[in-house]
Amino acid sequence: MKTYTLSNGVEIPALGFGTYLATEGNGKQGILNAFEAGYRYLDTASFYGNEEEIGAAIEESGISREELFIASKVWRTEMGYEKTKQAFAASLKRLGTDYLDLYLIHWPKAGRDVRDWEKIIQDTWRAMEELYDAGKIRAIGLSNFLPHHIEALRETARVMPMIDQLELHVGYMQQEAVAYCKARGILVQAWSPLGRRALLAEPVVLDMAAKYKVTPAQLLLGFLDRENIAIIPKASTVERCLENKDIFDFALSEEDRYFLKCLPQMGWSGEHPDL
Ligand SMILES: NC(=O)c1ccc[n+]([C@@H]2O[C@H](COP(=O)([O-])OP(=O)(O)OC[C@H]3O[C@@H](n4cnc5c(N)ncnc54)[C@H](OP(=O)(O)O)[C@@H]3O)[C@@H](O)[C@H]2O)c1
Repeated sequence: MKTYTLSNGVEIPALGFGTYLATEGNGKQGILNAFEAGYRYLDTASFYGNEEEIGAAIEESGISREELFIASKVWRTEMGYEKTKQAFAASLKRLGTDYLDLYLIHWPKAGRDVRDWEKIIQDTWRAMEELYDAGKIRAIGLSNFLPHHIEALRETARVMPMIDQLELHVGYMQQEAVAYCKARGILVQAWSPLGRRALLAEPVVLDMAAKYKVTPAQLLLGFLDRENIAIIPKASTVERCLENKDIFDFALSEEDRYFLKCLPQMGWSGEHPDL
């Protein structure tokens, strides 16, 4: 499996399994399906409310902890120095582990009208740096942080963020934020890489998928991979998990990559960190 090396030397799989809503209706089976398909990187968050089911799936799978890459996130209402430490401890307990491979600040602001959001992310980050120093987290990072949010964090940060997980897909490529991160050694990872399915029926996607003899999901994921963007698609069956994993080998021309990168907006979730 392809990996990226984060700025602190930690290896992170280029492809992970997104677990938002992955346990709805079928509990830990959704996670066991991903394991069966060969995924070892799970992206969760306290907000997803599924850390306990993930912990149960890990236990049932018998896969050793060292083989897994487990990422979670501190939610908006859990931010701040003390609260972050408590939230982290609660996530560990629910997941049944004593360390995380990656821990992210889920969103930069607790809400639109929050004052002092800069101070809140600085305090949150200080707690994460201490957990990182103590060996409780192998890598620390951000999610939904645009350049101005990262600039605020950099004012007091001792450890620079290693990753930024952003909504990124064909039709929403956030090129300013991506360029900013890449210039500072921050790995960019795409959430909703399939646009939560909205892109799978787009004629431009269908046409190009047919040209490369891949499925629409494979085209969308393979394209992000060729842009050196890490991906965490969610899928509910072993077959779809396998399909989404088989994306590393087809050659995508530079011309088609530019075409996909420059399409007008489509599939946007409507979620924006400042709105
Ligand atoms: N940091 C954040 O703020 C944030 C926000 C949103 C998401 N995330 C993370 O990113 C992960 C992925 O994003 P997402 O779950 O929103 O959306 P997504 O991965 O873009 O899309 C998931 C949807 O696509 C369908 N799908 C997956 N593979 C398919 C295939 N090969 N063919 C046809 N349909 C397919 C799934 O259907 P089935 O499930 O029915 O198979 C599901 O409805 C999340 O699970 C979560 O871990 C992070």
